[in-house]
Amino acid sequence: MPTLPAISVTDLNVSFGAAHVLRDVSFSVANGESFGLVGESGSGKSTVLRVLSGLNPVWSGDIAFGETVHAKKPAKSFFRQVQMVFQDPFASLHPRMTIDGILAEPLAIHGIDRPDERIAGALRDVGLDEGFRFRYPHQLSGGQRQRVAIARALALEPSVLLLDEPTSALDVSIQAEVLNLLQDIKQQRNLTMVIVSHNLAVVGHMCNRVAVMNGGKIVEETDIASLRETGGREIYTRELLAASRRVSLSATLGAA
Ligand SMILES: Nc1ncnc2c1ncn2[C@@H]1O[C@H](COP(=O)(O)OP(=O)(O)OP(=O)(O)O)[C@@H](O)[C@H]1O
Ligand SMILES: [Mg+2]
Repeated sequence: MPTLPAISVTDLNVSFGAAHVLRDVSFSVANGESFGLVGESGSGKSTVLRVLSGLNPVWSGDIAFGETVHAKKPAKSFFRQVQMVFQDPFASLHPRMTIDGILAEPLAIHGIDRPDERIAGALRDVGLDEGFRFRYPHQLSGGQRQRVAIARALALEPSVLLLDEPTSALDVSIQAEVLNLLQDIKQQRNLTMVIVSHNLAVVGHMCNRVAVMNGGKIVEETDIASLRETGGREIYTRELLAASRRVSLSATLGAA
């Protein structure tokens, strides 16, 4: 019997009033796989992630995480399994809380034991030493803040990590560092990831498979290797590929 995909999305539709922003979006992600969603601004990428993460309760279609049917208002335990990292690490971290407080909060909500040990471990996992623990977000660089946001997501030991433009608010050199960190984390844990980016180079670095969105629809789904070879089947994909080559990260990402 084939194993169930970690995430399956079938005919997902979302409207905001009269605006129909997702149209029959379907894709599935295998256990431990990293799947990319690319597309220009407004194509609906974040909306897909917000629905998956349980942050957007208004949608129709069928979504399952393994054998669990995704609810419109998921139970608390769901939020331990599925965690999201947002684009802007400054907006996503509470400015008046120390890093310690930021990392302690989800552990307390989920009643997780040994918080001290876990906070120290979570910081270590993202390459930050104990000295960061009692600092405030404004005392950190953008890259360090994004590491904290990743640590907060990983502290709950989720099985699914959803990343919405995890590096686009960062300087190019720092982007590569954070992407390499995510790559290491992916190799160390059996995490299933969905990574949203408007930049194909970012997705190419992290994913084997990618869906290209345009106007709320998936216009092409392909593996990265054949995308590199053929340059994409759809004109739209070709344009996106050309645009992302112009702002390519590949020089800083090396041959990875
Ligand atoms: N809460 C909302 N209410 C009304 N319209 C919304 C809402 N959220 C998103 N939209 C609209 O849905 C469409 C898709 O938005 P979404 O944020 O998913 O795009 P995106 O692909 O993530 O874009 P970007 O690359 O700029 O982040 C856009 O036209 C947006 O204006
Ligand atoms: Mg977005």
